[in-house]
Amino acid sequence: MSKNVLITGGAGFIGSHVIRLFVKNYPKYQIFNLDALTYAGNLENVKDVAEAPNYTFVRGNIKDVNFVNSLFKKHSFDSVIHLAAESHVDRSIKDPNAFIETNVIGTSNLLNAFRNTCNGNFENKLFYHVSTDEVYGSLGKTGLFTESTAYDPQSPYAASKAASDHMVRAFGNTYHLPFIISNCSNNYGANHFPEKLIPLFINNIKNSATLPVYGDGQYTRDWLFVEDHARAIDLIFHKGKVGDTYNIGGFNEWTNLDLVHLLCKLMDEKLGRKQGTSAKLISFVKDRAGHDRRYAIDASKLNKELGWEPSVTFEEGLAKTIDWYIENQEWLDNVTSGAYKDYYEKMYG
Ligand code: NAD
Ligand code: TYD
Repeated sequence: MSKNVLITGGAGFIGSHVIRLFVKNYPKYQIFNLDALTYAGNLENVKDVAEAPNYTFVRGNIKDVNFVNSLFKKHSFDSVIHLAAESHVDRSIKDPNAFIETNVIGTSNLLNAFRNTCNGNFENKLFYHVSTDEVYGSLGKTGLFTESTAYDPQSPYAASKAASDHMVRAFGNTYHLPFIISNCSNNYGANHFPEKLIPLFINNIKNSATLPVYGDGQYTRDWLFVEDHARAIDLIFHKGKVGDTYNIGGFNEWTNLDLVHLLCKLMDEKLGRKQGTSAKLISFVKDRAGHDRRYAIDASKLNKELGWEPSVTFEEGLAKTIDWYIENQEWLDNVTSGAYKDYYEKMYG
């Protein structure tokens, strides 16, 4: 079936993988990629599909209500897959309002515009909101986040994403707007901006620079290969139940310190360095304010209801990721020039 699908944030990390998958797998869909190209957005990430006949890039900001309204009027989107967001916890600690503006107001602008253009006829329409496990807060040593875990966001980033999830559900309840929300664990893979743990540390290991581990390094995250997240979004978009929530995760928990040691070992192998060379770069630095101790997702609903499971092991996914960063030095050079240097200096001194 042909349809107009708006994907927001398609020049970012996860969004670019979703764009590629949809443009390639669904030639009958017209895919619109709406992205403001902030520091995190990069058209290089989607250059392989840029000329596809079913793909259109639109540069614009979801904070701009007039722009959003006119875009929806022009294209009468059948579906929205919403990924555009400010996404880095450390930046949210420095500038929380930027997160409210994009993640909460921007999401509300999209919801309103979608509701208005549907004009009460929601047949075959869907607003798919891509969210995070961080809305659930922080776990102790045991337990997993399920779809019914109460929201308890702890960082400004998590609070802004929680607020956006609430807005989506409120539009569903109040206006009967058809929606689905998925909450995913930490992603890793190609095209990841080197401010997050894995790409930052890969880049630093390449450059033999310090690896700044926050606090005691015993914080735990549940890691998922980005292409598996994109596959899950595809499946949920097509087969998920309207009004439902799906948790997505890799059942793959690592403390930061264990993960960094694995990364160092794999990088030493790939770079032909003596084992133990990269681990010497580890440096324990001041902890992140309000640092969530542990995230872990129970993704069994997605597995049972829709048959999804991760396609790669963590070691396979990490190896692919490292290869990508080794082969794409130009991409890394481009994104780490200019403003990145100021950010790095302010963050890590
Ligand atoms: P990202 O920071 O790499 O990319 C965000 C994209 O959104 C960029 O291309 C940016 O230019 C665009 N954008 C930002 N503000 C915008 C605005 N006001 N208007 C239009 N475009 C704007 O983020 P990501 O890691 O790819 O995350 C994508 C989504 O997935 C986010 O909603 C995030 O909360 C969610 N998520 C991320 C992870 C993760 O591990 N990265 C995990 C779970 C959920
Ligand atoms: P990050 O990739 O920023 O994702 P999130 O905070 O959304 O989980 O961080 C992953 C973990 O790594 C988190 O516990 C913070 C830690 N971390 C460091 O120890 N040093 C760093 O320089 C960064 C960026 C993160």
